[in-house]
Amino acid sequence: MNIAILGFGTVGKGVYEIVKKANGKTESLHVDHILIRKNKECILPEMTDSIDDILNDKDLDVVVEAIGGIEPAHEYILSALKHKKHVITANKAVIALYLKEFTEAARDNGVKFYFEASVGGGIPWIQGLEKALRIDQVNSIEGIFNGTSNFILDQMSKRGQSFSEVLKEAQKLGYAEADPSADIDGIDVANKLSISADIAYNIDIADQDKMPIFGIRNISASDIDYFAKKGMSIKLIGKTHQRENKFDYIVEPTLFQSHTLEANTPDNYNLISLNGDTIGKLDFFGQGAGMLPTANAVVQDILDIKEAKDHLVRDFDSKVEYCSNLTKSDYL
Ligand code: HSE
Repeated sequence: MNIAILGFGTVGKGVYEIVKKANGKTESLHVDHILIRKNKECILPEMTDSIDDILNDKDLDVVVEAIGGIEPAHEYILSALKHKKHVITANKAVIALYLKEFTEAARDNGVKFYFEASVGGGIPWIQGLEKALRIDQVNSIEGIFNGTSNFILDQMSKRGQSFSEVLKEAQKLGYAEADPSADIDGIDVANKLSISADIAYNIDIADQDKMPIFGIRNISASDIDYFAKKGMSIKLIGKTHQRENKFDYIVEPTLFQSHTLEANTPDNYNLISLNGDTIGKLDFFGQGAGMLPTANAVVQDILDIKEAKDHLVRDFDSKVEYCSNLTKSDYL
């Protein structure tokens, strides 16, 4: 498999590192190109600033989009699919907006568009959800979707550090987005929840206008301390439910008793649960942010393409519609 990596930030570097290890499991993978910004120094022989050179390489099989953000990621993903290259991305912001367009472009051009790393970092969440859907209707999805905010709340509670101190550490560790407001204001969770609901309900939620989104920006060390004394932890939760062709969703800080799985989800970890007709409640737990766990999920997608393992085929044509008062959540 010949691979191009677009962008050389946290995710791009992680993919390069795992592929270069060539430890017998990934030795059939080769990174042929790394797209970097114009005027940036080419420190590796694979580096180029020309997207056209990459797209016109007839021997290239897979494009890994690791630029992040909306443009030019959207344009490059579509162009790569139209040039009949498989595309893999961890970029939840662009997928939340354009999943339907990418899926249709991949289908029209006979290639794959896979995005396991976009939700849950290294956790095989998308594949787990797709597997559940082979048998069940998934009636709810709920959990901790953002490693940075979980790390911040956890460190503030364990070490009594201030919000801004821990945020800086999360950025250094490669957990936070380039603009960390997406992490702390709940936008990153909203994107991951939209992608999960798109898959679970077979719909296309490109527009998040109706989603109530609350982040953790205003949570102070004294709030955390106050609830800790009552045996409770604050976690940033995304949740969605469906019933009788109606669904709702919300992102909000939520209190959990100290014995729960949520309260005991540490550091940069995510905990995502689904509830299906026959499987019941299924929990997915692991590192939700960070270079190598996220890159691992990207490389898993590359190997799935190499081994011709198909992911779920989507048509986005279900009748499930948004309903603002489906569940009597605390916010209603
Ligand atoms: N900034 C994201 C997070 C990275 O903290 O969860 C993984 O999507």
